[in-house]
Amino acid sequence: MALRDQARLRLALLAFRSALRAHALFGDPAAAVLNRSPNTSPYGLYERVRQRGDLSRSSLRMYATASHSVVNSILRDQRFGVRSANNQGRPSFQPAGVATGDRVHPIQDSFLSLDPPVHTRLRKMVAPWFTPRALRAQTERIETVVEGFLDELADRDEFDLIDDFAVRVPIQVICDLLGVPSEEYQRFIPWGAILGASLDDVRTVTEHRRLERALGEMAEFFDALIAHRGEQPGDDLVSALVTAGAQDPEVLHGDLLASTEILLVAGFETTVNLIGNGVLALLRNPDARSWFIANPDRADDLVEEVLRHDPPVQLTMRMAHEPVTVAGVDLRRDDGVLLLLAGANRDPDVFGNPGEFDPTRSNNRDHLAFSAGVHYCIGAGLARIEAAVALRALFARYPDLSQAGPARRRHSRNINGVLHLPVRGSAVRRSVLT
Ligand code: HEM
Repeated sequence: MALRDQARLRLALLAFRSALRAHALFGDPAAAVLNRSPNTSPYGLYERVRQRGDLSRSSLRMYATASHSVVNSILRDQRFGVRSANNQGRPSFQPAGVATGDRVHPIQDSFLSLDPPVHTRLRKMVAPWFTPRALRAQTERIETVVEGFLDELADRDEFDLIDDFAVRVPIQVICDLLGVPSEEYQRFIPWGAILGASLDDVRTVTEHRRLERALGEMAEFFDALIAHRGEQPGDDLVSALVTAGAQDPEVLHGDLLASTEILLVAGFETTVNLIGNGVLALLRNPDARSWFIANPDRADDLVEEVLRHDPPVQLTMRMAHEPVTVAGVDLRRDDGVLLLLAGANRDPDVFGNPGEFDPTRSNNRDHLAFSAGVHYCIGAGLARIEAAVALRALFARYPDLSQAGPARRRHSRNINGVLHLPVRGSAVRRSVLT
């Protein structure tokens, strides 16, 4: 980037950060959420948003809500979209805000950030790989993967839960699905972390440079993979995408690139935190842990409660595509709403005693951790299986698992979890899964 552009970018980012800080200081709850230190708990801030009403206006020229019923209804309402009503074309590959060059951006340019009908067409191309039937066929492989990684830890009574276990499981599973060699997995970890952090908006020139580099590396890697699968298709998702894309002239190369990249990144950057947050919840709640060790077949309930209580994705945005009244508030076309998924998950109107971690609660599947409506997480079923298998196997082997040092939190306000979590335990036996 030219020096003059760098200076301009630095100024724009400084103005953005200062405005956010000032609004937060003057008590705007949405600004406080977007400006909070990633090391602090967000749940008190979500409570403040809720106290201001079901849908409250923020001085940031948007609205915010932590109400379960409002978040749920906006996510399912076709009068709202993920893009502005005035920006419904194909991705320009030039993201709004801070330009990232002509790189494809897996979050901003994939179907995650597109509205119907383009969203529908692109999502349909990958949907067959995530049906309940397709997932059932993968469960055994996931169990083998999990057992294999635990076997590798057998001689160690201290390890890092994230690096040595939690991140390896979803990376291996998504690599199998995409047909990507998993030996390269160490390269994927920084890509996921950089893209996850960029969900907060890029805030410094260094972050901008880091993002550009990661986007370039990802494009190079997946361009080569797509070209290879075009010549030699295999029995994997990328081959199926390339074949389907070749038959549909409306599918662009950028669409294939963005779809494969979002699947890789969303496939592990979120699930690692579901496993990590599940372990943290059990280490902090001895009653829940004893219950789980006595009832390993209730791993599904445990996972739902982790998703409700401390979800890996905290928030999302929607924009009104036409004038619409929500919770008695009149929104204009292109008004944005900050949807606090994690706040909705603690709405006392839906969940009694919402701050308490209780895997036996009867309605724990009513959370919004995977969103709702047309963008409902396509990998939800896969993530649920991975986390249930991983937590069951881990605590079967290490019923005495304990924290062996301070955890280091992720530097993100949206992606919620820990980067490092030293643990210790003595492996008692090979797990119940095999
Ligand atoms: C615990 C793990 C996960 C969580 C908490 C999670 C969360 C979410 C959320 C909240 C959304 C919707 C965002 C919005 O409405 O604006 C979403 C969409 C998506 N997720 Fe996940 N996700 C997880 C795992 C996965 C996995 C394993 C995959 C892929 C293998 C995946 C792929 C996607 C994709 C492609 C979308 C876009 C769907 C669309 O726009 O139609 N996710 N996820």
